[in-house]
Amino acid sequence: MEQSTERLKPATGPHLVGRREDLVKAKRSFRTLEGRDVLVLSHQGTFYAMDYHCYHAGGPLQNGDIEELAGKLCIVCPKHKYKICLADGEGLYKAPSSQASESTSGWLSKGIKQRVHTVTETDGDVYVTLSRVSGFIDSDYFQGEKGKIAREKF
Ligand code: FES
Repeated sequence: MEQSTERLKPATGPHLVGRREDLVKAKRSFRTLEGRDVLVLSHQGTFYAMDYHCYHAGGPLQNGDIEELAGKLCIVCPKHKYKICLADGEGLYKAPSSQASESTSGWLSKGIKQRVHTVTETDGDVYVTLSRVSGFIDSDYFQGEKGKIAREKF
């Protein structure tokens, strides 16, 4: 996959993304922060934030189901069913039977594939601070104007 030449700018957040009660009710909320498309999720009382477009081919994650795989909560991309851990953006895949083990319940890691962001809350207001992790993460490719063109190709 070709890397985007658009670099993640230094974060200036935290950015207010809404009131707790509204985000819980919505469950999934789309926000654009500093030009970056972000999905804010509310699941079982916890907020998560990650890049909105799936690292595989830019599919929108908003309507993905949440499943627990190998003890980790993951969103399942509606487009091709890739699994992405909510907490850290790790991609999981089903191990071939020869590599399956009881400890992973048959799921193996692809490493961090989706950029996740930090969610904080103050007095019922919910904030997202964009990730400052340096280096390319696969979901970076589908952000910005070049990402928009790439998403349309798939
Ligand atoms: Fe998400 Fe392909 S775009 S699995």
